[in-house]
Amino acid sequence: MPHPMTLLLASVTFLILAYYIKSRHPKNYPPGPWRLPFVGNLFQFDLDVSQLHVGIQQFVKKYGNLISLDFGNIPSVVITGMPLIKEVFSQMEQNFLKRPITPLREHIFNNNGLVFSSGQIWKEQRRFALMTFKNFGLGKKSLEQRIQEEALHLADVIGEEKGQPFDPNFKITNGVSNIICSITFGKRFEYDDGQFQELLKLINEVICLEASMMCVLYNVFPSIMKYLPGSHQTVFRKWEKLKLFVSQMMDSHRKDWNPEEPRDFIDAFFTEMAKHPDKTTTSFNEENLICSTLDLLVAGTETTSVTLLWALLYMSIHQEVQEKVQAEIDRVIGHGRQPGTADRESMPYTNAVIHEVQRMGNINPLNVPREVTADSTLAGFHLPKGTMVLTNLTALHRDPKEWATPDTFNPEHFLENGQFKKRESFLPFSMGKRACLGEQLARSELFIFFTALIQKFTFKPPVNEKLSLKFRMGLTISPVSYRICAVPRL
Ligand code: HEM
Ligand SMILES: *[C@@H]1O[C@H](CO)[C@@H](O)[C@H](O)[C@H]1NC(C)=O
Repeated sequence: MPHPMTLLLASVTFLILAYYIKSRHPKNYPPGPWRLPFVGNLFQFDLDVSQLHVGIQQFVKKYGNLISLDFGNIPSVVITGMPLIKEVFSQMEQNFLKRPITPLREHIFNNNGLVFSSGQIWKEQRRFALMTFKNFGLGKKSLEQRIQEEALHLADVIGEEKGQPFDPNFKITNGVSNIICSITFGKRFEYDDGQFQELLKLINEVICLEASMMCVLYNVFPSIMKYLPGSHQTVFRKWEKLKLFVSQMMDSHRKDWNPEEPRDFIDAFFTEMAKHPDKTTTSFNEENLICSTLDLLVAGTETTSVTLLWALLYMSIHQEVQEKVQAEIDRVIGHGRQPGTADRESMPYTNAVIHEVQRMGNINPLNVPREVTADSTLAGFHLPKGTMVLTNLTALHRDPKEWATPDTFNPEHFLENGQFKKRESFLPFSMGKRACLGEQLARSELFIFFTALIQKFTFKPPVNEKLSLKFRMGLTISPVSYRICAVPRL
């Protein structure tokens, strides 16, 4: 009889060997650092992103523009540099249109919705969402008017601070989220509305919790973890609550739905559902209505509000830039009317400032992941089907060959002879068929909110305080919470 300890050691060795044989990378796979079984490269880095950058930079130097890294048990590659990024997102994009889906996400969403769906469902949902956005106009108000109206509310609540130091996060998030709510639910909420606050709180919680250790473990060992208690179970419960919220909105819409006059995304979706009564051949069903709505809320809120938070922070730090924006606003718009997207053409400086905020803010440093759908060859390397693909947007946005002062805030990067200059190495919304669906909307929101606020206020650091550009990593890179003063201009 062998000793129990020997048996244990033998089985552990066997498991590890089996793992390596099963997950051995194929011939001609992109190079990368060594991995641990099951967790891959996950624990080679501090979870602190500033460390991650340092760690990986050495790898890029050592291994080149296409490196392999395993996140948990997910084989991944990181692509650096415009030539390769363009190849993946244009010529070869057919092979890169999928999103990797974690077991956690799959448990909640299946293959439904907009952001993590793939194949026919994604195609239908994306086309429908884009069309609905274009036709909004939904109801009587154009999207532009909705943003302008919200900008007034936002300026009002910021004015209530009377120039005293405050953290703008709460107000900005409420204002931005109201734009998506007005598209999906046909209404905006007051910032002190209990139901609205509950919704924003839930979204924030699921985003935060999904980064927790129990959720990471769930993604590596779903079949074991599903029987264990922990924060992954909390995430499931909170997502159920979010779905219930949308489904209640759906019920109340159904009561006074008039197909002749769609008021919002939900109404337009009802029309589509009525057109496709056979539920087996269409993605226009209640599950997708709920998932697509939640995807719009999650994808459209934090991204845009974090960008605006970076904008106010940069303006408070760079008073000379803010003064130039104000001079341009005063010259082109004045004080008597609200800014609109039609003003963007005649406001190159303001436009350049917003672009520079997005370049420096760099809120999605590794883009949103894609997945290889068929064995492919990139830069001479073999990428097997199922590999996760990340693109290094930081490397583009901070490329010393492309930007005069890559690490300093400088709107001149987007100006030439006083005119706005487009830059190729600027990809905050990514590119290709799966690029950000909300880009137009986000750009309108950023322009109107930013310009409307700078028209009415001068943003300043609190007396005797120095503002910092320290950041925090979540779903996006956001500034650590800060306080500023909004001093009324008139
Ligand atoms: C400054 C604000 C925003 C930034 C920087 C941003 C950035 C991005 C990026 C990088 C992607 C991934 C693209 C790819 O895989 O190639 C994405 C996808 C997406 N974004 Fe945005 N986004 C912003 C605002 C919005 C807004 C306001 C909405 C709401 C309508 C939105 C909805 C989406 C959706 C639905 C997707 C998934 C598209 C798909 O998978 O087909 N985004 N966004
Ligand atoms: C992305 O590029 C930046 C800048 O070159 C670098 O510091 C960082 O380590 C890179 N990250 C990855 C994951 O390759």
